Amino acid sequence: HYTSTSLSDFMSDKLLNHFKDNEEFQNNKTYKILDPSCGEGELLYSVKKILDREKLEYKLMGIDTNEYAIRQASSRFSNVNTEIVVGDYLELFNKAKENLSTTDSHSYPLEMADMIIANPPYVRTQILGADKAKSLGREFGLKGRVDLYQAFLVAMTRQLKDGGLICVITSNRYLTTVGGKDIRNFLNENYDILEVIDLGDTKLFDAAVLPAIFVGRKKTNKLSLRNDDVPFIRIYEELNNKN
Ligand SMILES: C[S@@+](CC[C@H](N)C(=O)[O-])C[C@H]1O[C@@H](n2cnc3c(N)ncnc32)[C@H](O)[C@@H]1O
Repeated sequence: HYTSTSLSDFMSDKLLNHFKDNEEFQNNKTYKILDPSCGEGELLYSVKKILDREKLEYKLMGIDTNEYAIRQASSRFSNVNTEIVVGDYLELFNKAKENLSTTDSHSYPLEMADMIIANPPYVRTQILGADKAKSLGREFGLKGRVDLYQAFLVAMTRQLKDGGLICVITSNRYLTTVGGKDIRNFLNENYDILEVIDLGDTKLFDAAVLPAIFVGRKKTNKLSLRNDDVPFIRIYEELNNKN
């Protein structure tokens, strides 16, 4: 399920608005933006529109397992500084992670990113299979069986520079389930959480999954702010039998 243009624009606005508050980035000349499961590049395209308007220099980095989608994405970004490749993000991440550093890295295509925007695959443990779900949990330091998007959240966080920004839409299950506890703790430890938007039953996708958007700034010091005061919006079309 690809992200619609209006939702992509909404997420990009969030990302770039928070990014403008980021003093650490004032001197950074070429911003690196990553979508590790970019499909046909809708999210990167929305970010590009804003960066062009703001006359900022950038490099767009996209990965997807789907060759056809990557061909479509590449053709959208001709004449733009991009690295858009076919690949399994989690495999690429596992191969390159030793070389990823908090400053910079040239382990193509996994350079450290200033901003990450993503709608990673949501694949439940029942569908992944118990063995795969468990081995993902082990590899990414999460207990129990994990959904694919949780492994993406860990890998993306490692690839984000300190002080960098992420805006990601995933299943909303981790917000409330027992199985989501590890990933909630992980996000709380690693981010100054800027916004959480639970899109509830608004049916933005055909999938039977209810989505939520998470916006965060990667902590420069893990012991800093404690996320006591995070703006949280929950949108439901129907709640307690009322529209
Ligand atoms: C929910 S779609 C989102 C696509 C795009 N970011 C968008 O918002 O339109 C998830 C994408 O993840 C890709 N994908 C699935 N497993 C992947 C993996 N292991 N590594 C990279 N991409 C993957 C799928 O091919 C699909 O394009």
